[in-house]
Amino acid sequence: MKITTIVLAALGMAVSLAAPTTTAPPAVNGDKAVIGYFEPLHGFPIDQLDFNKYTHINYAFGAMWKGAPDPYVVYVDYATEGPKLKELVRRGHSKGVKIIMSIGGWYGSQTFSEVAADPLKRKKWIESAMVFLRPNTLGENAVLPDGWNMDGLDIDWEFPGRPGAICNTVAPNDTANYLLLLKEVRAQMDLEFPTNHKTITSAVSIFPWAGADGNPLTDIRAFIPVFDWVNIMVYDVHGPWSSSTGPNAPLYNAPTPGDPFSAQQAIDTWMTAGWPKEKIALGTPFYGRAFTATVNMNTRDPVTQYAPHTGVAPKGGPSDSNATYALCDEGAQFWGFWNWGEIRENILVDDSLTVPAAGWMRYWDNTTKTPWLFRESDSMYVSYDDPTSMSLKVDYARLHGLKGLFMWEAQMDYKDELLAVLNQIHCSSAACVCKGVGAWAAATVRATLICEDSYAKYGEVLCLHAFQLAQKNV
Ligand SMILES: *[C@@H]1O[C@H](CO)[C@@H](O)[C@H](O)[C@H]1NC(C)=O
Ligand SMILES: *[C@@H]1O[C@H](CO)[C@@H](O)[C@H](O)[C@H]1NC(C)=O
Ligand SMILES: *[C@@H]1O[C@H](CO)[C@@H](O)[C@H](O)[C@H]1NC(C)=O
Repeated sequence: MKITTIVLAALGMAVSLAAPTTTAPPAVNGDKAVIGYFEPLHGFPIDQLDFNKYTHINYAFGAMWKGAPDPYVVYVDYATEGPKLKELVRRGHSKGVKIIMSIGGWYGSQTFSEVAADPLKRKKWIESAMVFLRPNTLGENAVLPDGWNMDGLDIDWEFPGRPGAICNTVAPNDTANYLLLLKEVRAQMDLEFPTNHKTITSAVSIFPWAGADGNPLTDIRAFIPVFDWVNIMVYDVHGPWSSSTGPNAPLYNAPTPGDPFSAQQAIDTWMTAGWPKEKIALGTPFYGRAFTATVNMNTRDPVTQYAPHTGVAPKGGPSDSNATYALCDEGAQFWGFWNWGEIRENILVDDSLTVPAAGWMRYWDNTTKTPWLFRESDSMYVSYDDPTSMSLKVDYARLHGLKGLFMWEAQMDYKDELLAVLNQIHCSSAACVCKGVGAWAAATVRATLICEDSYAKYGEVLCLHAFQLAQKNV
């Protein structure tokens, strides 16, 4: 179904209707990004990635760990990962997709603090990272190329000035030193690639980097020139550590007893600290999180997704594992992860996405705009994202002029169902026909809503949400 373009004018002004287009493709918003984190280690074949639906793929991860022969350089197991890295770059580039080396992550950030603090270590680390960007001069068949021809570095230090995995070194000066490291990386890239811009991005938390006192910086403008954009990870907002069950990735803040964190909070916090909206990509999870509630969540009145729980994640979907991680032993525990693909194959087998398999109940939280599931037999609560909740996030990102969206992680999808929704960020000038929303024409925005193919299924939800945003003037 193709959608006519309607430009909605401010209250009191004429509503101008562009000529209906039934054949023209939707307007495309040129520089928007759909970024996929991809871990080849998890075994998903690279040829099953649809490169038409990504602008960037972040290879996860190059790592630093304390037991490595040299803990201060970026390590990739080239013997097993090298061929995949080559294939990813080759296939991606053939479709115009940028391939970025993501460095660090939860377990691979162990020595960032030491690297950033020492000029000589920084120099050596940068040299090891530049290898990913350089062209290979040793020929196609070289087992170990001297360059991997990638397009940028995504620095995933989790987290400067704040505890991450228990194996990390953390120091008060981390963030100040991080800026030094970033400036030197930028300078080296510009020196080696004066006419071929290589990107620097970073996966960041819902609060800006921590200052020497451990609190988020309130002015981060000094970082603007070194980053192309930051990837704000708005997921894992509630987990086993939280005081109640609650959404993994709320769009808006939860009411108490949920935690007051969300996509809206994260974007507001970063922008209040001086960060430009054009340099924000909003992170979304292609997975849900399970908890074991200590009450029957089906029979509470009113029904709510905030409940007491055991504080220990149960085994989530089939792939959820309690194996310890070789490079940093944090103990054997399940994560409670349910990939979207696993939710689709085991729980939401009905394409309506609202009728779960026997034993489960499915609910929608209209405050945080997230769906959740409950299974009474083992008191399992699962917070997750579906195409509807995802489309509201995309809508938010578009209406706020963000750079784009990304997901953790690409291979967790079901038949590209969620990925297709993220791609709605590319549509700019098309607007929705809002059936049944009479007041829409009086709304205040020049609504820029996507339409494309998924409109038929999700269009009305989107329209309603945009209408609410317009009314709130956010
Ligand atoms: C912290 O970093 C800043 C900038 O790199 C430097 O000037 C200062 O001396 C450092 N302080 C400590 C305690 O390392
Ligand atoms: C991991 O989970 C399995 C059950 O799936 C259990 O048998 C095993 O004891 C667990 N391992 C540890 C170390 O807790
Ligand atoms: C969700 O909340 C909005 C107000 O934000 C309201 O207009 C709408 O009817 C609600 N939808 C449901 C299903 O409760």
